[in-house]
Formats: sequence, structure tokens, C-alpha cells
Amino acid sequence: MRQALIFGITGYAGSALARHLVQQGWGVRGIGRSESAASDLESLGVEVEIADVGEPEELESLGRPDDHVFYLVGSISGHPDWTERVGLDGVVNAEAALADTGIASFVLVQTLAVYGRGSDETITEDTPTQPNSQLGRISLRAEQHLRDALRKREFPARFVRAGTIYGPGRRTVDALRNKRLRMLGGGENLSSRIHVDDLATVLAAVAERGRSGEVYLAVDDQPISMAAYFDYLADLAHVPAPGSTPKWLARAMIAGFGLTSKLTKGHAPLGHNLYMLVTGNYACSSRKIRSELEVELTYPTYVEGVESLLADEDEDA
Ligand SMILES: NC(=O)c1ccc[n+]([C@@H]2O[C@H](COP(=O)([O-])OP(=O)(O)OC[C@H]3O[C@@H](n4cnc5c(N)ncnc54)[C@H](OP(=O)(O)O)[C@@H]3O)[C@@H](O)[C@H]2O)c1
Repeated sequence: MRQALIFGITGYAGSALARHLVQQGWGVRGIGRSESAASDLESLGVEVEIADVGEPEELESLGRPDDHVFYLVGSISGHPDWTERVGLDGVVNAEAALADTGIASFVLVQTLAVYGRGSDETITEDTPTQPNSQLGRISLRAEQHLRDALRKREFPARFVRAGTIYGPGRRTVDALRNKRLRMLGGGENLSSRIHVDDLATVLAAVAERGRSGEVYLAVDDQPISMAAYFDYLADLAHVPAPGSTPKWLARAMIAGFGLTSKLTKGHAPLGHNLYMLVTGNYACSSRKIRSELEVELTYPTYVEGVESLLADEDEDA
């Protein structure tokens, strides 16, 4: 039986991956922090350990020979110290804990922040990185650490850069209905998206058929502007389309939140990392996951994906 070890198993993407792999007949273990999310997963036969990736001693004796390991711990909106702790220190700690255990693969899941403001051209796995945020720089340092481990110790690391992850359970329609979701700067920039179930398919394919040292973009086939995506969703769900906050105002808010969160060490609702990600122009290609990994996407564009969101909203109603 194929075995998975998922860091961040209690999160949105991690728990979807766990469910997908269980359905495919894998044995699944993982670590997370939330006791309640852990008990939901345990009812599916998944083993969950509560541990902190920032504490090396809590990761001891986790790995087993032939495990496929998925790292889905990260923060796009947290305090910068936290972003570094989970996005870099956690990766270093996980690699140290697993280095001599004979794992089959280690799949690091990150964002498109490494591409900075993005590009007017289609982004592929060969596009040079040009981070313009702390998240982007931290992501590349974590990647470099694993590339060194691959070179020195044959640590089987592969790198997944995922577009915006969407799907059931995000309560996006609720957020639109309650006017909690806003565009930044009009939302004309292109974004690449991936349905959470398709992300799970891509991650399993990277683990089983991907090559160590390679980057894979986890995105669907059709980049779409932020504004067009949310207008389409709002229209079909009969809720108001989101308003837009001008970029200058968003930047002023970030400066204000940044000061408060520095003083309180608390969470800022909008930070520089998130701002850069949602205002970047990311039209990414799905060609490599399709041709090299032979992935078939269930939701190749937002049109099929939005249908699943609306079905979920009906279920929740
Ligand atoms: N959201 C997106 O659109 C997007 C796009 C591209 C890439 N990504 C990346 O994909 C990954 C997963 O995203 P997501 O949306 O599923 O995130 P998420 O729902 O916030 O899940 C994060 C997971 O990490 C766990 N975690 C956080 N801090 C931890 C710590 N110190 N020690 C151990 N576990 C810890 C969380 O545990 P608890 O929930 O139990 O606290 C949760 O299981 C992240 O790296 C994210 O940056 C996200």
C-alpha cells in the first residue's frame, strides 16, 4: 500500500489531499495543530499527530521508508515572523527529521509569490523567479535548502507552485453576500487558479511520477482576471459582485496594520505578502503537469469549478 505523510493535514488543501489519497487506497498519516480537524480525519482512518513544525524535537521519528511526504504548511497572510517559521524553519526541520529515513518523495507546496509581480507573458516552470515580497524570498530559501539536501544527500525533493486554491468549503459566496470580499485595484490582473480536488490529483502525480529537483505549476488551463472570476461567480450565485479598494488605500491600510501587528505581534487582516500575491499578474501554463505527469483535471477552467462551488453552497444552505 502506498503511504503518505502530510504536513498540514488539518488545513484546507492538506485535508482534501488526505481524503483523496484515502479514496485511492493509500495509507495516510499527517501532522497539524487543530484537534477538531484532526478528529474529523481520524474518522476516515487517517492518523493525525498534533505537532509544531517550528519545534524540531516534535518531528522526531515521523518518517518511514518509502513514504511520500507532502509539505502543506505555509502562511500567505500571517505575521512575517510566522511566515518564516512555517515556510522556512519548518521545511528545514522537516528535512532534518526525514533525511535518513528513506522516504520516496518530498513534495513542497508553495505559492506563485516567487514570480513577484508576475509577467505579461505566460509563466512556465522555466520563467525566472523575481520575488518582491518576504513570502517569495522565504519560499526560494526553503527551495534552495532542499536543493542542497538533494545534491548532498539525495533528498527526493520536488517543488509545486500552486495558483489560488479554491473549492467547496471556502464560503466564497457567503463572503460576497456579506461584502467581506473586495478586489484590490480593480482586479484586472490575471490569476491562475486550481480547484482543491485537482490540486490533490496533481500532488499525488508529482509524488509518484514527478522528478526530484523539478518545479511543477499546479494551475488549471485558463487564467482569468480576479474581477472576471468573481463577477462570474456572483452572477451565477445571485449575490452582489465585489467592490474594489484602490491600491493606494490598500497600501496605506497595510502600513497601518503593519505597525499595529509589529507592536502586538498579532495578525494583520491585510499584509504586504497577500497584497503582492493578489495584485500580481500570473497567467501560468498547465502544460507540464499535463504532458509530463499526464494529469487529467476534473475542473479544467473556472466554469466547471464554479459549478462545484454553487453545488456546495446549496448543500450548506
Ligand atoms: N490558499 C491558497 O490559495 C494557496 C495558494 C497557493 C499555495 N498555497 C500554499 O499551500 C499550502 C496549504 O494552503 P492552505 O490554504 O491549505 O492553508 P491552511 O488551510 O492555512 O492550512 C495550513 C496547515 O498548516 C498547519 N500549520 C500551521 N502552522 C503550523 C505549525 N506551526 N506546525 C504544524 N502545522 C501547522 C495548519 O494546522 P491547523 O489548521 O491545525 O492550525 C494547517 O493544517 C500553504 O503552504 C499555502 O501557502 C496556498
